[in-house]
Amino acid sequence: MNVAKRTFDAVIVGAGGAGLRAALQLSEAGLKTAVLTKVFPTRSHTVAAQGGVAASLGNTTEDNWHWHMYDTVKGSDWLGDQDSIEFMVKKANEVVVELEHYGMPFDRTDNGKIYQRPFGGHSMNYGQAPVMRSCAAADRTGHAMLHALYQRNVRANTQFFVEWNALDLIRNSAGDVLGVTAIEMETGEVSIFHAKATIFATGGAGRIFYSSTNAFINTGDGLGMAARAGIPLEDMEFWQFHPTGVAGAGVLITEGVRGEGGILRNSSGERFMERYAPNLKDLASRDVVSRSMVTEINEGRGCGADKDHVLLDITHLSPETIMKRLPGIREISIQFAGVDPIKAPIPVVPTAHYQMGGIPTNYKGQVIAPKDGNPNTPVVGFYAAGECACASVHGANRLGTNSLLDLLVFGKSAGESVVEDFKSGNLTLKPLPDDAADASLARIARLESQKSGTDVHEVRLTMQRTMQKHAGVFRFKDLLSEGVTRILEVAEQSLHTEIADKSKVWNTARTEALELDNLIEVAKATMVSAEARKESRGAHVRDDAPDTAEHPNGRDDQNWLKHTLWYRDGNRLDYKPVNLKPLSDDVEPIALAKRTY
Ligand code: FUM
Repeated sequence: MNVAKRTFDAVIVGAGGAGLRAALQLSEAGLKTAVLTKVFPTRSHTVAAQGGVAASLGNTTEDNWHWHMYDTVKGSDWLGDQDSIEFMVKKANEVVVELEHYGMPFDRTDNGKIYQRPFGGHSMNYGQAPVMRSCAAADRTGHAMLHALYQRNVRANTQFFVEWNALDLIRNSAGDVLGVTAIEMETGEVSIFHAKATIFATGGAGRIFYSSTNAFINTGDGLGMAARAGIPLEDMEFWQFHPTGVAGAGVLITEGVRGEGGILRNSSGERFMERYAPNLKDLASRDVVSRSMVTEINEGRGCGADKDHVLLDITHLSPETIMKRLPGIREISIQFAGVDPIKAPIPVVPTAHYQMGGIPTNYKGQVIAPKDGNPNTPVVGFYAAGECACASVHGANRLGTNSLLDLLVFGKSAGESVVEDFKSGNLTLKPLPDDAADASLARIARLESQKSGTDVHEVRLTMQRTMQKHAGVFRFKDLLSEGVTRILEVAEQSLHTEIADKSKVWNTARTEALELDNLIEVAKATMVSAEARKESRGAHVRDDAPDTAEHPNGRDDQNWLKHTLWYRDGNRLDYKPVNLKPLSDDVEPIALAKRTY
C-alpha cells in the first residue's frame, strides 16, 4: 500500500496541556511543528481538570518551594525522583505567571493576585497545616488553561491535525525515533509523520478501569505505541483513585470542594477523616482519603440503601461561595447525582483517576531507557510529557494539582530540550526504514479481514471489570495473581476482535479496536507490575504487606525502594534505583520517614 509521507521538524502526539505547552515552545522558536490529536484541542482531557495548578506563590498564606518539595516527596511515598521534583516545584511560579500573561483567567484575591485554595497533602512548614497553593479559575482550571494555550499556539502557527489517531512509533535499527504513523479518522488514510523530534503527550489510560473520572479518549495510546516499540513502561502499578467521584457515575468532584471547606461524612454523619488523619483530616493525600472511605464502606458505615458510598457535605458553605468558587460542581452534582449541593450532600466513592507511571523520562522531558548498563540513556529523537510520561515526580501517589503543574513544567522542558538539541545539531532527519508503516498496516488489515471474533466493546468491558476487581483501591495477593492470568487471557482475546461493519470509512469501531490495543498494553503492565511488588507504598496497598514496626505503612525500603520497568516482550520486569538526590548540591534530600497526615 502506498503511504503518504509528511515531514516536519517535530511531531507532537496529543493536544492537551502538555502537548500544547510543548508545541508553543517549538513553534515560537520557529520549528515546523505538527500536533496530532484525536479530538479538537480544547476538548482534550485537560479540560476536565477542575481544582487548580500548584505553585508556591504564597498569595494568601505563606509558602515556599521547599515546603512544596517536601509535600511532593512525602506524597510520592519516597518513590519520586528528587531531582525531577526539585526541578518541578522550583519552576512552578514561572510557568503559572507565564500562563497568566498568556491570558489565563485565574480567579483573583481581593488585592488582585491569583486566587489560591488548599488541596490534599499540600502543607505549610513540613506538614503542620494546610496551605493555599492551588491556583484556580473557579472549578474549571483545565478548561481555562487549554483555551489560553490553544490560542497562543494559533498565534505561533502550530499546525494541528485534528481527528488523527497516531498508530505506531517509527524507530530505525539504531533505536532512534523518526516519527509516527497515523490514521485520519474521517478518510481512513494512513500517513507517515516523519520528523527530527517526536514528543508524546497522549495523556493517561484511566479507561482500563470500569469506574473512572477519565474521558473515553484516555486510552493510553502513547504508552501502547512506546511498549510495542520496545520502550519499557515505568511504575505502572501505581494508580490513583480520586476520593470523590459521583457515586454510580464516576464523574469528578474536585478536591477543591474539600479545599473550600467540604467535609466527608459516613452514615451517622461523622466526620470520619478526623480518625484517619488527625492533622490534615479531609485534606490528607488522596490515597489515604480513598482508603479511609473504602474502609468506612466495608465496615458498614456507608450511606444509601446499599451502604455503598459516603457523603461530601458543603451545605454549611454559603450559596454565594458555592456559586462563585464551585459552579461546575453544582451543575455536575445536579445532573449526575440529582442533588443540589447547596441543599444536600453529594454521594461520592473513590474512582480511578490518574496513572503515576508511564514512559520513563528525565526532568528534561527526554525519554530514557536502559542501554549499555546505563538505565537512563536518552532515546534519540524521543521526548514525552504529561500523564503519559513518568519523570518521575509523583512516585507512588500524586498530590492534587501537581498534574497541571507537571504538564506545564515538563511540556515546556521537553520543548526546550528539542530546541536545544536542534541548535546543537543533535537532531537530524534520518532516513525512514522501508518497512516504516508495515506494523500499522498489518494491524489495520487484521481488523478489516477478521471474519469472526469477540466484539471490541465486550473485550474492553471484560478488561475494565478485571482491572477494577483485581487491581483496585486495596490489593490482595490472591486477586493479583489471578488477575495476571485473567488479563493475559483478555489480551489474547483482543487479538481476535471483530468490528461490526467493515464497509464504513468513518468507523468508530475501528478506532475503538485500535485504542483497545493500547489499553491492553497498559492493563498488562499494571497487573504484572502490581503482582510483583511485594510491599505497600502510596496507592499500592496489599493485604500481605501490612503496617508493622519493621515496615511502617507496609513499605519495604530495603527491598522495594526502586522503580519498576515493564517490557511488553515476554511481560518482563526490570528495576532501577530511585533518585534520592536533589538536582542542586545545596538542597538537602528529603529523608525517608513514615507517612502520616
Ligand atoms: O480534584 C481535582 O480538582 C483534581 C485535580 C487533580 O487531579 O490534580
